Amino acid sequence: MEKLWFLFLVLCFSLLSFTIEGLGVNWGTMATHKLPPDTVVQMLKDNGIKKVKLFDADQSTMSALAGTEIEVMVAIPNDQLAVMNDYDRAKDWVKRNVTRYIFNGGVNIKYVAVGNEPFLQSYNNSFLNITLPALQNIQNALNEAGHGDSIKATVPLNADVYNSPVSNPVPSAGRFRTDISDLMTQIVQFLNKNNAPFTVNIYPFLSLYADQNFPVDFAFFDGTANPTTDTGNGIQYSNVFDANFDTLVSALKSVGFGDMPILVGEVGWPTDGDKNANVALAQRFYNGLLPRLAANKGTPLRPGYLEVYLFGLIDEDAKSIAPGNFERHWGIFRYDGQPKFLLDISGQGQNTLLVAAKNVQYLPQRWCVFNPNAKDLSKLADNINYACTFSDCTTLGYQSSCGNLDTQGNASYAFNMYFQAQNQQDMSCNFEGLAMVTTQNASQGNCNFTIQIALSSSFRPSLMVSAFVLVLMLFFV
Ligand SMILES: *[C@@H]1O[C@H](CO)[C@@H](O)[C@H](O)[C@H]1NC(C)=O
Ligand SMILES: *[C@@H]1O[C@H](CO)[C@@H](O)[C@H](O)[C@H]1NC(C)=O
Ligand SMILES: *[C@@H]1O[C@H](CO)[C@@H](O)[C@H](O)[C@H]1NC(C)=O
Ligand SMILES: *[C@@H]1O[C@H](CO)[C@@H](O)[C@H](O)[C@H]1NC(C)=O
Ligand SMILES: *[C@@H]1O[C@H](CO)[C@@H](O)[C@H](O)[C@H]1NC(C)=O
Ligand SMILES: *[C@@H]1O[C@H](CO)[C@@H](O)[C@H](O)[C@H]1NC(C)=O
Repeated sequence: MEKLWFLFLVLCFSLLSFTIEGLGVNWGTMATHKLPPDTVVQMLKDNGIKKVKLFDADQSTMSALAGTEIEVMVAIPNDQLAVMNDYDRAKDWVKRNVTRYIFNGGVNIKYVAVGNEPFLQSYNNSFLNITLPALQNIQNALNEAGHGDSIKATVPLNADVYNSPVSNPVPSAGRFRTDISDLMTQIVQFLNKNNAPFTVNIYPFLSLYADQNFPVDFAFFDGTANPTTDTGNGIQYSNVFDANFDTLVSALKSVGFGDMPILVGEVGWPTDGDKNANVALAQRFYNGLLPRLAANKGTPLRPGYLEVYLFGLIDEDAKSIAPGNFERHWGIFRYDGQPKFLLDISGQGQNTLLVAAKNVQYLPQRWCVFNPNAKDLSKLADNINYACTFSDCTTLGYQSSCGNLDTQGNASYAFNMYFQAQNQQDMSCNFEGLAMVTTQNASQGNCNFTIQIALSSSFRPSLMVSAFVLVLMLFFV
């Protein structure tokens, strides 16, 4: 009897605390209205997420993470790589952004990301010469400060730093891109010397987005009618994630480091802004990925445990859309910390809802819409254009969630996004008389007309200015 009770308790405990061991999330903050860091950290805790990757070392984020056990990857943005080529500056960075948080009850920093995809071909080689010296300086500074055993510097790289030759396009023939192969070899040697991992971002969605002929099934994990066979070793591949990861394993092997640990710094699927970016496909992707991680399946060339950071945690409405409209819709949570779809991050296929952000404060239920009584419509296009330039209209595109609106619907959507981005200030719902405020929910079908979250008052410059003006007025009266 006692034994049964014990087993029961163990079972309960393991169900409660079960999350995938190697699972983390990317916490990006390029949003017009950010959830408070404490709210986000509570979300991580409520959902049992134990690893987080950041894109900077922002003080308020770090303070919110202090005292939690959550493992953290802090980051140095690309625009600071040049500065980190100076060893004294690198030491100063480590002192201010790492050492400062290393105390009992501080932040559990595990990695420093040096740059973010610095060798993307679209950067025109701008970071080619400064990334390795920055990596060396940061790791050496970590070592000198006594953190080297527990904190490793790494460079999150895009998956196009390696490939297979066109003549032999199989994973086993993987090697580093020829134009940067010497550099990649030196980076790998340095990582190896410090027992640091290689970090790579792998995006099956982008494979599909970039190539109209890409076999859709190959982007997911639920099998395909036509697996490809690697003629080098006879291994069959049924998804691009495995094929891509193993191309990297082969590239590492070709320079003598076939066993180097690899982190997947980013992987995920967007839910809006493209014909393949929607909730159904995101669910299909995660429902394939997560159970494989939970089962420690790994890839054919690297079976077993994988450390993987989902991209991303929350939608970011101020991200650059140069890569595409989907860029602002990568979150497993919406902008306001509401889960977008059923997703079991324990990888047990339970189709549960993630725990939403708690105590989120919203602006009042007011929308800005097209005024049907407006007479002069000649300036409509200009005003829509203006609204969309300063807010997020990425769901209006073809085959996106608001892609079916008519011209007036488009105008309403754009006006509302601008109005919300401007914290619903009255002046921001005018558009030369073409707009009006309403308290009727303006959403249309699948197209959500959102209400923004309220920023805490100390961060509202407009209020500060009004207060200042008020004081001045009192003074002169
Ligand atoms: C991190 O280091 C940089 C460079 O020294 C500094 O500008 C930045 O303010 C630091 N961040 C914090 C939170 O101190
Ligand atoms: C890269 O070069 C192209 C063509 O010269 C240019 O259009 C683009 O703006 C450059 N990108 C960056 C990031 O410098
Ligand atoms: C990088 O360094 C090489 C060799 O010193 C030089 O030829 C090249 O112009 C540099 N590239 C950039 C983008 O600075
Ligand atoms: C609505 O806006 C989108 C994005 O700007 C545009 O592609 C579409 O043609 C517009 N539709 C109408 C009916 O104006
Ligand atoms: C507005 O209506 C949409 C669609 O019915 C709904 O999803 C959304 O929650 C509503 N918004 C508010 C703020 O009530
Ligand atoms: C709109 O919001 C509701 C919740 O209010 C959500 O269930 C639905 O998925 C959202 N639709 C889109 C396309 O984001």
